[in-house]
Amino acid sequence: MQPPKHRAPLQSRSHRPKGGAAGNAQRRRTGRPCPTTLANRPRSTQNAAMTQDFHTVILGAGAAGMMAAAHAGPGTLVLDHARAPGEKIRISGGGRCNFTNLYTRPENFLSENPHFAKSALARFTQWDFIDLVSRHGIAYHEKTLGQLFCDSSARDIIGLLLDRMQAAGAELRLQTSLTDITHDGGRFALTLSAGPPVTCRNLVIACGGKSIPKMGATGFGYDIARRFGHRVTDTRAALVPLTFGGPTLEQLKPLAGVALDARVSCGATSFDEALLITHRGLSGPAILQISSYWRETRPITVNLCPAQDPAHHLRTARQSHGKRNIATVLAELLPNRLAAYWADTHALRCNIGDCSDAGLAGIARDLTGWTLYPTGTEGYRTAEVTLGGVATDGLNARTMMSKTVPGLYFIGEAVDVTGWLGGYNFQWAWSSGWAAGTAIAESSR
Ligand code: FDA
Repeated sequence: MQPPKHRAPLQSRSHRPKGGAAGNAQRRRTGRPCPTTLANRPRSTQNAAMTQDFHTVILGAGAAGMMAAAHAGPGTLVLDHARAPGEKIRISGGGRCNFTNLYTRPENFLSENPHFAKSALARFTQWDFIDLVSRHGIAYHEKTLGQLFCDSSARDIIGLLLDRMQAAGAELRLQTSLTDITHDGGRFALTLSAGPPVTCRNLVIACGGKSIPKMGATGFGYDIARRFGHRVTDTRAALVPLTFGGPTLEQLKPLAGVALDARVSCGATSFDEALLITHRGLSGPAILQISSYWRETRPITVNLCPAQDPAHHLRTARQSHGKRNIATVLAELLPNRLAAYWADTHALRCNIGDCSDAGLAGIARDLTGWTLYPTGTEGYRTAEVTLGGVATDGLNARTMMSKTVPGLYFIGEAVDVTGWLGGYNFQWAWSSGWAAGTAIAESSR
């Protein structure tokens, strides 16, 4: 189905300048000059009456959009309503950007169609991005579980992408949003919040998801998708702390600050990583991971001793130190505060030597199967990503182009492909951005 002609005003929340040139803002934040920014040009050259023709317009100068711009070829304009490009890259990984994962596989991604991401991930792999990082002289290290971080700063990755965009001849226009869009079957005509109207043959939607709205995330890409007849799957906050209410929260609150390695499960999915108890509920990598799988009313199960056999430990302790009270023995398996809480709330006040086999088995069972019912999540305010997005059945898995609107592409987090915690989401941004960028470059040859 080919939409004959689309025309509709778009409600984009625009982040207008509060003063200062975009290039200056960018220079301040990235330490590098902006490749080309219309806002930097003398006003006299900005003729509002004239339409500017581009081969490709990319909406969103985030990870995916900049990657696509670096490969789409000359005549590419990148628009972003933010004051600086790559803001989520800048704050990612505690300022060091966990830019990929050594063990990236399609199994690390959630999507309605688990096969969709395979092509892009196989054609632009983690090794390709690592090679790019190395060639730019960016020092990096593996922190844990294959997660690669910059040694110095996430700004190095932004600098790398800006350099690549500049080398490719792409133009970057910040503090600019899309206010109207039409498509005549061949070209897109865009009205912008600043500067002259723009036309283009290819329009790439790379505006990310809804997480961290205070950074300008709007879910605008989903509106554009719907406008062009694309289905958008249900979206929800993911990689996000879980919240609790009632007596469970009251029990957790005094333990705020306790951290330990745990196995957290929801249904058939489990993650072995760190867990952190907070005054609102549970956080830490294991919880963020499972939040992508958790749904309202479902329980999560926490194994507090994933690396040990607590039943064996308790039996051994009974044999060798029968006069120890159970809280002391539990402190050999758990952080002290949690051990004391556990003994107290489970009424374990006797010495270990006084426990029966069945009693010890029961304690071990509770430690490995702590069942909790979250009441919700902290939502988009703190979520690292949005689960769901533009449905993959409307997109070509090789090129990311719409199957129904030629020249319209969706990449990055806007698409219904969501990675685990640990560098996977950036890898999807690089892979999908590369796939769209190279497809556009090939189509123009
Ligand atoms: P991204 O959100 O990066 O870019 C979208 C761009 O579009 C933005 O520049 C935005 O301003 C612009 N935009 C949005 N709406 C617009 C509109 N209406 N008009 C114009 N422009 C618009 N992942 C990972 O792999 N490793 C990590 O270490 C982290 N760490 C991390 C920390 C935090 C705090 C968050 C919130 C997220 C992460 N992530 C992460 C996830 C990662 O940041 C995310 O998956 C990618 O940035 C997605 O890249 P995109 O380019 O798709 O969107």
